[in-house]
Amino acid sequence: MPTLLHIDCSMRQDSSVTREITAIFVEEWRQANRDGKYVYRDLGTSPIPHADEAAVVAGLLPREALNDYQRVAWAVSEPLINELREADTILLGVPMYNYSIPSVLKVWFDRITVKEHMIGDPTSEGLLTGKRTVVVTARGGAYGPGTPRERYDFQTPYLRALLEQIGLDRNLEFVHSEMTLAHSVPSLEQFKPIADASREEAVKAVCRLALAS
Ligand SMILES: Cc1cc2nc3c(=O)[nH]c(=O)nc-3n(C[C@H](O)[C@H](O)[C@H](O)COP(=O)(O)O)c2cc1C
Repeated sequence: MPTLLHIDCSMRQDSSVTREITAIFVEEWRQANRDGKYVYRDLGTSPIPHADEAAVVAGLLPREALNDYQRVAWAVSEPLINELREADTILLGVPMYNYSIPSVLKVWFDRITVKEHMIGDPTSEGLLTGKRTVVVTARGGAYGPGTPRERYDFQTPYLRALLEQIGLDRNLEFVHSEMTLAHSVPSLEQFKPIADASREEAVKAVCRLALAS
């Protein structure tokens, strides 16, 4: 039975492009995997507490050696880690905030990047290697090759690096929706056709990727 772990983290609800595109992936995936298990986590509405020292130390010690503080901290991290380990496909909806990722998603990475998941050498196998990861991004502007803002894209390379250190970069796809602000910022109105074309491409891409999972 295949398992899909779906994580959204936009602070927006109804108007969120990442939520819209990840929901299309999920709909297609569920049609194609009727016996599949679907797990959803919304970091936008239910953020995880920041990892503290107890949480980090708890990830390094055997469970029976944890003190009370570490046990409480581990109780937050453990379900996130278990969800990740049980998933075959991981779907992340990631808005660009200040050229990078939402802080609520950074906290998730701080919690799940434990010693047992880290692979050290990027070519070696780890506990998470073999899983498939699809990252759906949305950006207010455009950051593709040749655009004036290309060098400000700290979102894609950062996510790639985070995923690489836990072995989730081997089967990794990015789907970008760009110029999303063209529909809400009057000075960007001229870019609406680019925004619409980018969204259309993203929908096609997730439909294809959902069926391939
Ligand atoms: C706090 C915040 C910071 C943002 N920073 C950027 C940015 O650095 N570059 C950019 O192109 N768009 C930026 N945006 C616009 C979002 O990337 C854009 O609205 C995107 O569609 C958000 O994803 P969503 O539609 O799923 O909410 C920012 C939006 C917010 C709310």
